[in-house]
Amino acid sequence: MKIEEYIKSLPDNIISGDDVQLPEHSFRNIFEFLELDENDIFYHLGCGDGKGIFIARNEFHVKKAVGIDNDTKKIQQANDYGKKIKLDRWEFFCEDILTAKMDDATVILFWFTDNDLIENMMKKFKDLPDGCRIITLWGPLPQCLPSKVEFPYIVNQVPFKTANLKEQLLEIFDAKCIDFVNAWEYAERYTKAISSSDIENNRFLTILQSLVIWINAKNLGIACGNEIPIPIKNYMGILKTFFNIEVEHLLK
Ligand SMILES: C[S@@+](CC[C@H](N)C(=O)[O-])C[C@H]1O[C@@H](n2cnc3c(N)ncnc32)[C@H](O)[C@@H]1O
Repeated sequence: MKIEEYIKSLPDNIISGDDVQLPEHSFRNIFEFLELDENDIFYHLGCGDGKGIFIARNEFHVKKAVGIDNDTKKIQQANDYGKKIKLDRWEFFCEDILTAKMDDATVILFWFTDNDLIENMMKKFKDLPDGCRIITLWGPLPQCLPSKVEFPYIVNQVPFKTANLKEQLLEIFDAKCIDFVNAWEYAERYTKAISSSDIENNRFLTILQSLVIWINAKNLGIACGNEIPIPIKNYMGILKTFFNIEVEHLLK
């Protein structure tokens, strides 16, 4: 089956990202990378159970931390947790991020994959005050040249500098071209950043992600060399033979 069909067969709540929550270690890595401090007003869009908000306030002492999510149960859970601990200057809003107010933010965590939603949020992000940093995972905001990268964490700073896909990829990978080793290393970093300690599934995810990275690079003309590297061929073969997943058709 084609990889698209395989993805369609996975549970909706996972593929939509709605039931995906960043692990606590990721929040800490993100906040260290951002050098979050007491001068920051931090917003987490799609904050889920609000763990990121409490870590930002408690451990990084931001001036204020605000979580926004359109799921009432998650916001209820976040508020309940917040009331139990001795901490102030946090707020949760049960709201669509498209209509939510965030113009006092200095840092925004935005991990969404829905293209329409991202495009709509861009209009809002562009109007934020200069210097505001929007952190995304895996890829930058559309047409934005990242201002700082520690893959998979990417800072997009207002006012945005524009870049095409090729320029974005080269900036993220900090390389002139992408080979199998780059693709594998970056795929592994992403897997580690977002996952729990389910090592078997992690390896499977890393294989899929590295093939996707390399194929995208090839299609954009920035893969190193003209041939398909042997490890890429091998992993394509393993996916097809042992998992019945086909990715070769993605190559243009
Ligand atoms: C990691 S975020 C990303 C989900 C997103 N659907 C995506 O494209 O990847 C997950 C959280 O965002 C929340 N969420 C999804 N869409 C939202 C929206 N339009 N406004 C506010 N929260 C939203 C979900 O309830 C969930 O807690």
